[in-house]
Amino acid sequence: MIALAFVLLAQATMPGPAPVTGVRTPEEIFEQRCAKCHGSDGKAQTKKGRELKAKDFTKPKFQQHTTDKEIVDAITNGLRKKKMPAFKNKLSPEEIQALVPFVRAFGKK
Ligand code: HEC
Repeated sequence: MIALAFVLLAQATMPGPAPVTGVRTPEEIFEQRCAKCHGSDGKAQTKKGRELKAKDFTKPKFQQHTTDKEIVDAITNGLRKKKMPAFKNKLSPEEIQALVPFVRAFGKK
């Protein structure tokens, strides 16, 4: 018991591979900012997603017809006519870039 407690204590004080605080992963950003409309599964089967007719990111048609630049543009500047909000004041360019492979990954499932 005491030995176990010591091991746990030692682990707790060690600088483990835990993510550095303040850095958000694409998963966290998507969950926080995008899932409301696009769904955690990228299929847009949420109340908002259906209302605004957001596309299903898992469909090959979406993946083939959308370029990386269009993904970056949509997130950065939004799509005004389609009611997608702009994120240039909320996310850094690096965070927006990191969302591209994340959006792409929905098509690979
Ligand atoms: C208020 C709802 C809403 C939120 C929040 C939202 N979107 Fe959208 N998004 C839309 C709608 C509506 C469209 C237009 C229909 C479509 O293409 O899916 C769209 C389109 C897109 C497209 C396709 C762009 C294109 O050229 O076809 C991508 C990629 C995208 N969103 C990613 C994101 C990401 C990443 C986030 C979070 C940072 C996000 N969206 C947040 C509603 C939203």
